[in-house]
Amino acid sequence: MIHTTLDSFPENFLWGSASAAYQIEGGWDQDAKGPSVWDSFTKIPGKTFKGTNGDVAVDHYNHFKLDVALMGEMGLKAYRFSIAWSRIYPEGRGEINEQGIAFYNNLINELIKHNITPIITVYHWDLPEALQKEYGGWESRNIIEDFNNYCMTLYERFGDRVKDWITLNEQNIFISHGYLEGSHPPGVQDKKRMYQANHIANLANAKAIKSFKSYVSDGKIGPSFAYGPAYPYSSHPESVLAAENAEEFVNHWWMDIYCFGKYPEAAWRYLEERGLAPEIKEGDMELLAEGKPDFMGINYYQTGAYEKNADGVLKGAKENHDGKKGNFTESGVKGLYKRKRNTYVDTTNWDWEIDPMGLRIALRRITSRYGLPVLITENGLGAFDELEKGDSINDDYRIAYIESHLRQCREAITDGVELLGYCTWSFTDLLSWLNGYQKRYGFIYINRDEDSEKDLRRIKKKSFYWYKSVIENNGENL
Ligand code: BG6
Repeated sequence: MIHTTLDSFPENFLWGSASAAYQIEGGWDQDAKGPSVWDSFTKIPGKTFKGTNGDVAVDHYNHFKLDVALMGEMGLKAYRFSIAWSRIYPEGRGEINEQGIAFYNNLINELIKHNITPIITVYHWDLPEALQKEYGGWESRNIIEDFNNYCMTLYERFGDRVKDWITLNEQNIFISHGYLEGSHPPGVQDKKRMYQANHIANLANAKAIKSFKSYVSDGKIGPSFAYGPAYPYSSHPESVLAAENAEEFVNHWWMDIYCFGKYPEAAWRYLEERGLAPEIKEGDMELLAEGKPDFMGINYYQTGAYEKNADGVLKGAKENHDGKKGNFTESGVKGLYKRKRNTYVDTTNWDWEIDPMGLRIALRRITSRYGLPVLITENGLGAFDELEKGDSINDDYRIAYIESHLRQCREAITDGVELLGYCTWSFTDLLSWLNGYQKRYGFIYINRDEDSEKDLRRIKKKSFYWYKSVIENNGENL
């Protein structure tokens, strides 16, 4: 579809940027914060790039005023950040830690002072370690109540000023990496357990959404899903079917539950035949049907091209964590699909496909299938940045990346997609969970690396000024 003229971005469009507590805050035990599963996982030798962890990260906990002032200077309209559950409840439940509440209150107030809409993510992977130890975290139904209680505390304390909320960040990623690939905590590799933990997370998500309505009746809430639309590798019907399989298993498996309250049929049957389907208890499906989101939040980074996979048993992809381009390996499930390298698109140094049009396709698919508004909660480029003389960083590649994706957003708006906003990943540079500090995403360079915290100086990159002008022009200059 080629449009002769493009619609403008809506007047109240949320030009935003995003972050996550563990990746920026530091202060890992400051002001009575309890440990999270990431505090201990990153200390296990060999788990992260050069053994990096978030003990200090970019020390946003002690620099938040400066960081928010920079957002204000940029003219940012929205800032998405996550709350560390174990700052609020150091043990996951029980006594509220008022010092944790105070930190986020101060952050929210500071944002509002600068006319920035706060968007809260209640869970961005840093589960209180106490709950992992006590009952196995997401593998126990006990978490449904504890998560709901934690969320209700947040709604009650912050809901007067915060109206835009995200429940679980990338449930598909933290569950598959945590229980199938074993690369995230708790480091399990077991399909059956993965589907079961995922079902419990679905229930927790639905319950938290249901509770939200009675606390923040004028607010909006939804999950952030890591959506990578599936493409057929070729037009061979077997390739098209493989892509259908992938879309069903890697995308609809989650989004259908969020939006329809039911699992997609073909995937359910496949899992049931193999004894892998999750256990459904009385009342589960009713709860899932009741906890519908107001919008779909998506984190968009790449698409995937799929081919039939009749031959070999392929496991997860060997991931590139050092930024040495060209290490893509095929991955997939025997009998269902195999992910191939899409030769029509370029990749980042970490071998992630760069596919701006895929974002338009993602937005269109969500609009057609679910009929919900969409909030882009993450999109951005992880790259090596060079700090040049005179404290300048010329990240033209980042500008090109974001610009090309925003153009596709505008096309999608013209197609009829209701797009609420766009958050880049990320505002400042931060800790990439498994890739250290060298994989930078921010508009603000943080002067630190894997070996040294240096002075944690904040330096504006070229992209900072560029995004500022995009916001000023409400995207008309794109
Ligand atoms: C998303 C996460 O998966 O992608 C972020 O929500 C993460 O927390 C981002 O940092 C980029 O991933 P990575 O692996 O490059 O840090």
